Parts: sequence; C-alpha cells; structure tokens
Amino acid sequence: MTKRMGYRDWRWLALWWHNCFLLWSTIDGQTRYTIPEELKQGSVIGNLAKDLGLGLSEIFDRKLRVASEAGKQYFSVDAGKGELIVNEIIDRETVCGKRASCVLPLQVVIENPLQLHRIEVEIRDINDNSPNFITNELTLKIAESVVVGRQFSLESAEDPDVGSNALKYYTISKDECFSLKVKDLSNGRKAPELVLEKRLDREKQAVHQLLLTALDGGNPFRSGTSQITITVLDVNDNFPVFEKALYKVSIDENSPKGTFMVKLKAIDIDDVQNGEVKYSFGERTPNAVLSIFDIDSDTGEMFLKGKLDFENAATYEIDISAKDNGTPEMEGQCSVQVEVVDVNDNPPEIIFTSKPSPLREDAPSGTVVALISARDLDSGNNGKVTLQLQRGNPFNMKPSFSNNYALVTNGVLDRESFSEYNIEITATDSGSPPLTTKKTIPVSIIDVNDNSPKFTQSFYDVYLKENGLPGSILSSVSASDLDFGDNAKISYSILDSKVQGVSVSSYVYMNSDNGSIYSMHSFDYETLKVFQILVQAKDHGSPSLNSNATVHVFILDQNDNAPAVIYPSAALGSLSHQKMPRSAKAGHLVTKVTAVDADSGHNAWISYKLAEATDASLFSVNTYTGEVRTKRTVSEQDDSSQRLLIEIKDDGEPVQSSTVTVAILVEDGLQEPILNLRQKAPEPGKKSGRITLYLILSLASVSMLSLVTFVVLAVKCVRNSRSSGSCCMRLDDLDGYNNPNRNLQIQLNTDGPIKYVEVLGGDMLSQSQSFRSCLSPMSEFSDFTFVKPSSTTDFNLFSIGGAFKEMINVLDASLPDSAWTFESQQMLWYLTGFSTTSVDGDTPSESTV
Ligand SMILES: *[C@@H]1O[C@H](CO)[C@@H](O)[C@H](O)[C@H]1NC(C)=O
Ligand SMILES: *[C@@H]1O[C@H](CO)[C@@H](O)[C@H](O)[C@H]1NC(C)=O
Repeated sequence: MTKRMGYRDWRWLALWWHNCFLLWSTIDGQTRYTIPEELKQGSVIGNLAKDLGLGLSEIFDRKLRVASEAGKQYFSVDAGKGELIVNEIIDRETVCGKRASCVLPLQVVIENPLQLHRIEVEIRDINDNSPNFITNELTLKIAESVVVGRQFSLESAEDPDVGSNALKYYTISKDECFSLKVKDLSNGRKAPELVLEKRLDREKQAVHQLLLTALDGGNPFRSGTSQITITVLDVNDNFPVFEKALYKVSIDENSPKGTFMVKLKAIDIDDVQNGEVKYSFGERTPNAVLSIFDIDSDTGEMFLKGKLDFENAATYEIDISAKDNGTPEMEGQCSVQVEVVDVNDNPPEIIFTSKPSPLREDAPSGTVVALISARDLDSGNNGKVTLQLQRGNPFNMKPSFSNNYALVTNGVLDRESFSEYNIEITATDSGSPPLTTKKTIPVSIIDVNDNSPKFTQSFYDVYLKENGLPGSILSSVSASDLDFGDNAKISYSILDSKVQGVSVSSYVYMNSDNGSIYSMHSFDYETLKVFQILVQAKDHGSPSLNSNATVHVFILDQNDNAPAVIYPSAALGSLSHQKMPRSAKAGHLVTKVTAVDADSGHNAWISYKLAEATDASLFSVNTYTGEVRTKRTVSEQDDSSQRLLIEIKDDGEPVQSSTVTVAILVEDGLQEPILNLRQKAPEPGKKSGRITLYLILSLASVSMLSLVTFVVLAVKCVRNSRSSGSCCMRLDDLDGYNNPNRNLQIQLNTDGPIKYVEVLGGDMLSQSQSFRSCLSPMSEFSDFTFVKPSSTTDFNLFSIGGAFKEMINVLDASLPDSAWTFESQQMLWYLTGFSTTSVDGDTPSESTV
C-alpha cells in the first residue's frame, strides 16, 4: 500500500511541477490547468489561491470558490490550502466526445471585494477505450453464384479515443475466398470491406468463418474483434447425374404387370430443393412406351405397367430424366435399354395364300393345289416354322421362297377311290417347347370321265321260247359306271347288226334308260335258233366312254312242227307204191320210211309205229329207223297188195304226229336185190355205172377229206389241248347262227348198193348249238359220220368235184322249209343248212366250186 502510494505521489509530484509551470504561464492572462482524464476524486490540480495571489487567511475570509459554467461541478477548491481539486472523475469522452481538445472553463469567485476570475482546465485524452464492434458476431449470406471481386461492407468498429488512441486499422483472419479492404471515408473514418477473391462453392465449403479485428494506435494498443460467419447460399448449379448413362435391362416378354425392372439413381449435389431429384420419362417419350413402363418419380424404380410383346418391339430405348426442385430446375438424363427376351408364346400360323381349288382327278403330278405360307410371330428358333403333311396322301409340300410353300399333287389321283381329301398340315416351330398348329385343307376331286360303263356280264344268255308274244321283255342288261354325275349316267343302245340279213333293230328294241330289251317279234325256232344282240352302254361324259356286251338270244324250241315224211314221198303221189319180191325172206327190207321234224331235240325225236296193216303179221316197222321189213317169209297166200299205215310221232310235248300210207306190191319173179330206179333213166345200166362211179369218186373224196380233216383236227387238238385238255374241238359260236340247219351227216349203207344217205340234224346233239367234230361213229349204223358246219369253205363237201353239182341240182325240195332236196331213191342226200340260201336267195357259198 505504501509503495503504491509512493509511486502515485511521484506521479502527482511530476504533475504538480508541470501544472505549476502551466499556471505560471497563464497567470498573466487567464489561468489554465491541464490534467489527464480519469483523475481520481480529490486529486489536486493546482494551488489556485497561490496562483491568484491570495494568502491563506484570505481563502477563508474572501470565500474563494469555483463555479462551473456548464452544469456539472467536476472541480472544487480546498478551503484550507486553496487548492483546486478533482471533485468527480472526468471521462474526456463523456465530456468532450470526439473533440480533439477538451477544455472545461471555470469561474473563480472571490468576495470582499468581489472578484471574478476565469480559469480553464484542459482534459487530456488517455487510451482508455478499445475499438469496439457493435455486434460481435456478424452473419453474411452470400450466394455461391456471386462473381469474384464483389465487395461486402462490414460493420466499422468504434473507438471513442482520439488522436493516436483512436482506431487505426483492421485485420481479418485468413481465408482463400475472402480478403479485407479498408476504405477511407471522407470524414476520415475507415470502413472495412470484404472482397470475394475466389468463386464460392457451396458444395465444397458451405460456411466460412472469419475474425475481423480492429486496432487503435495507442501504446499499448487496444483491439476489438467481430466474428463473421459467411453462409454460402446454394445455387442450383448442379444437375442430377445418373450413376450410369445407360442402363441395360433384359426382361422376358411374358413378364407380368408390375414386374420390377431396374432402379435408377441420379445424384444432385446441390442443397435441399436444388438437390431433390424427381424421375420422369423424357419429354419425347412415345405413348407406346408410356403405356408399358412406369417409373416411380421418387425412388427411380422402373416397373412393367403393360404387356410386352417381343414381336411388336424387341427393344426399347427409354430416355429418363431426373430433375431437381431448384429454380431454374436442372435436369440430368440417362437411357434405359430394355431388351425384350423372346418367349415362344406365339404358335405358328398357317395361311392359305390361295384358296384350295378342286382338282381334276387326271391332274398330273405336281399340280398346285394351294399356296400356303407359314409364319410365327416369335423370332429366332421360336419363329422357325416347319410344315409337315400327313403321310399317305398323294400330296407334297414344295417350298418356294422363305416360308412359302406350294401344296402340289404327288401321285395319281382317283376320284373313284378318294373323292375328297382332308389334308392336314402341321406347322411346328423350333422353340422349346415347340408350339404346333394344325390346319386342314379340304380338297375335292373333280370327276373325270375315266371309267367306262361296265356291264355286269360281257355275255348275256337269254333263252326265249319260240312263238312268244311280241313286245314281251326279253332280257335286261345293266351296266354301272364308277364315275360321277353325267360321267356315270348311262344310256343303253343296241348296236346295229344283221340277223338273217335284217337289222337287229327290227327284232328287238331297248329301253335306253334301264337296259331292258323287248322283243318285237315272236320268234320261230325253226327259222332262227339263236342270234346275238350287241348292246352298248354309253355314259354322258365328254368325251363319252362306252362298253359293249353281247346278248345271245337262244330261241327255245317248242313242239310246233309235226314230223314230215320225206320218204316215201307224198309229193310223188297220194300213195307210195313199193314193190317186193314174193320170194323175200324174213327180215327183207321193204322200204324205209323217213320223216324229219323241223323241231329239235325231243320235239324232233321221231319214232315210227305201224298203225294199221293189211296183214300185221307180215311187216314190222323199226321204231327208230322207220325200216319196214318183213317179219316172215312171204308165202303164196299173202296178198300181193299190201297197205301199211305208219304213224310217225315226235317226242315233244304235246306229241305231234303224222302218218304215211305205204302200198306194197308183192310181185312174183322179182329178183332180189332190185335197184328201183326212176323211170326217166333211159339206160339203167349205164346210169347205174355212172352213179357207181360218182360214189367211188365221192367215197375217195370223202376218205381224202376225212384224212385231211383228221390231220387238221389232230393239229388243232394238240393246240387246244393245252387249254382245254379235250380232243374234241368246240367250235362254239363260230359265226353264222344264221344257218340253223347247216350240219351235215352222211350215212352210207354198206350192205350192197347204197340205198340211202342220211343226213341228220345236228340239233339232235344239243339245243345250244354246240358243234362237235368228232372222229367217232354217231350210231351203230354209221360207217363214218362226218359232222361239220358247212359254211366253212375249207371243208366244203361240195367243193370236191363238179359231179356233185348235178346231184344237188336234182335234189328236190320236199321238206316244209324247202331245205331238203332229194335226187333218187337209191341215194338220198339229206342236206341241211340251206335255209339261208332259200331265204335270201343268194348263191350259197358252199356251192361255189
Ligand atoms: C325299265 O323301264 C321300263 C319302263 O319304265 C319297265 O317296264 C322295266 O321293268 C324297267 N326295267 C328294269 C330292269 O327296271
Ligand atoms: C363297241 O362297239 C362299237 C361298234 O362296233 C365300237 O365302235 C366301239 O369301239 C366298241 N366299244 C368298245 C369299248 O369296244
């Protein structure tokens, strides 16, 4: 305490001396004291009494005192010593503010006598104030977009001190973006400014902290600081950036709706709104994409919204933009490449590019039936289509250009076997698993007239009784045709041919619709035994086809002819006269009754019977041969005139019969044998010799013929035996049913001179015109039998020699149909087979020599 006091005392002592000097200097005019501010109360400024020349006693007596001119009494006078002391601490800054000099004027009042003195107290400044900022913390907000060089005014600091104690300069803490500039204002004040040295980047440094310091010039100096916080305001200067510029996604085309595809992420380093990212499709995204894909605007997740179809679109390029919320907004973009993976979801299709047309059955192999194309909306193997045809059809698939095919025929078509095909086509793709489609093409086959009508039989045999009613149905033929429609419609007709020189159509007619044949005549077996009708069945196709059949009409014999007696001939007289010698023995051949029956078979089977006789014991008639022989030796008593009635019956039903009366004259002295020749022969011996010669000739000829015949037949037999195995030659149906009686049978009697030659009708053998040529005897009586159709010229009996011509000429017609001719009683040629000759009057071919 004492030490402190001592130091103060020394100070005050110094001030004292100083003040005394000042006082002294002002005593002449005006007394002035100079004191520093902030003196303690009671501090002595100077001895006022002394300076005014007053004694100690006067101080009290004259009531020395000071009065401040301006209100406040900072000073007082010590009544004891007369010293001016500090009454109150004076702050210069309060009293004088910023004025450079601070002088307080005082009035000194002395009474008895009143004296007024003026004194001045100058207050000197001391550095008692620090520079001061009003706000210690300053916050600045600067947008990051602010250009470099921009200045920001800072708050100035205040220092009430004056002079060198006043504020002198500012400093600022170091920052690379900012510097400090102090501006001298016109009033001498200094204004600090912040200058932007480098572009701000909020994204790098969002806040800058600076410390601004103000310093005064005092010694020691004083300072004040202000904390400056600079917040960098975000500017939307960054656009959202996607993590990838291109996102690739593969997705199956059959993925369901809502399938998650990909999550996009874009980052915007700006702050808050400027960094808030919203995702959306690009502006020019087509509707097709918008309807299929969806994006969550907040999360950036993409989903499937619609249905994918690889066949429609295999890839999508989708532009996605990410926008921030700043103003103006910034946008970033990316692409999403969606690859749709094909799934075999489309079955192949079969398309008929041309409608299948009906096919003619004669279409050649390779005819195009239809054009087909195959397609599959899938791609790759899923869309690779192969077509297959059902096997077993005459069709083929011919590939043309890509996936186009022609269905062509591959074989022979036959409507009659298959009138319609349903061709099944299978299309299969190569997917896994493969899909299949089937389609059927109906192909109808058009009929072509390729089948001729077919008769049920190629030969029809019809048996028709003679003497039938005209117009009765004779037969029905029928034919069928495998074709269709008109091609199968049949008309029947009779082909023109001749029957006995007359057109067959005058005998029969035909119902052209159903093939029924009707007779137009009643037929006579004896005239016409058999004939043939050529019938034709013709279809209505174009060109039409036909086929022929033969109808053989066999006329069946009815017993409508009575036996006709040939010998003894009734034509020669009403009564036949025969002679016989009385010397005849038993068994003597008196005569032979010969009859023929125009009928055939049983109807012509003739039996002879002695119906009446003058003497029934003398003669007998052979039932079969008609030979009249004596039963016993003729005696003298027997009548010389005998009469026999011989009944001739056939075996028909009903029996037809006729009779002949033979008158026999028994003559005495008639020698046996007697050739009973005709009276007209002038020289019997000569004539007999001539006949014998003829016979020898004919026999020789016949023998020759038979030999030739034998050889020919043998040859034919050998040939035919390969097929028939029979040595009898069938000559069925050798032309010429037009000669019903053409077979010739010659029978020669060997006992003695030839009495007759017998010609037997071949009809005895069969009703159906089987002509046999056999080298076997026909009957016990025959030495040789020769049967041959006489129409064949190579075997013409009458071509042997001219000699027979004469014989034929003398043969007389005595048979009902004039087919029979006789020459003599010794020799009877029964010739048959000339009915034609007699009908049409032509020269028979047989007789042309
Ligand atoms: C054919 O038609 C005629 C007349 O219509 C008929 O009388 C006849 O019986 C028919 N023939 C057949 C075989 O149907
Ligand atoms: C049927 O006969 C006729 C007449 O003879 C002939 O023109 C035709 O070609 C014959 N038809 C057949 C299929 O032989």
